Amino acid sequence: MQLQPALDVLKARAPFIPELAIVLGSGLGDIAESAEAKAGVSISFTELPGFPQQSVAGHSGKLVFCELEGKKVVLQAGRFHFYEGHPLDVVTAPMRIYGRFGLKAVLHTNAAGAINPDFKVGELMVIADHINFTGTNPCIGPNVPPGPRFHDMTVAYDKALRQQLHAAAESLGQRLQEGTYIGVTGPCYESPAEIRAFRTMGADAVGMSTVPEVITARHEGLRVAGISCLCNMGAGILPVALTHEDVLAAGAAAAAAFETLVRKFVKDLAL
Ligand code: HPA
Repeated sequence: MQLQPALDVLKARAPFIPELAIVLGSGLGDIAESAEAKAGVSISFTELPGFPQQSVAGHSGKLVFCELEGKKVVLQAGRFHFYEGHPLDVVTAPMRIYGRFGLKAVLHTNAAGAINPDFKVGELMVIADHINFTGTNPCIGPNVPPGPRFHDMTVAYDKALRQQLHAAAESLGQRLQEGTYIGVTGPCYESPAEIRAFRTMGADAVGMSTVPEVITARHEGLRVAGISCLCNMGAGILPVALTHEDVLAAGAAAAAAFETLVRKFVKDLAL
């Protein structure tokens, strides 16, 4: 995918270079409808050349440039998933664009299934590290300069930003877990045997997004933070079937705490 045409639109339309991009996961998009967001500049994905024009859910996403808690941010409402059939260069295009637009950091948020039996549905988890179990990698193909051919993933999730997330949660009196996120392609949920295998591998939560984007964000030199909203226990942990509706409902129930945490993190953000 050509990045320059979308970048040119941003350069023409965006009112500022944000400090931070916040990728809002499924059911966590309320901030993009807040008063601050409404007072900002909204650019629909349909205005960005190369961006897929419709998501599976039937509505396209948007980038909202706004001031949140005194900080200049861009809110990304909607993302592209590999399971929708988009190539990985499209899935990860927003990260390439943020890097090239001069952003320094990205906060990823997502809905995930809890694998760690100590975790509870509705809790939030700081992503400390990930396991790429998608079977592929967004950097396959000719290297995209200026990133190196073989980039480091030793500390993909920025230590200082992780500490700032914990400090924000602590000052709010919120419980905040931390763990390893395993990224899969989906779109089916996992089998119970897969969940048991992932636990053995060291995963605490599982989801169908974020990992390709974080790999690309690191290739762009962006600092990365991530929060998973634990919307269900992984398949087979409880004697119930998983449904997208239940996952969304759990996300909605956790949305207020999620927004409070993100706002406090942004307010105190020190890059
Ligand atoms: N598995 C994969 N992705 C998910 C899950 C899950 O259990 N819950 C929310 N996203």
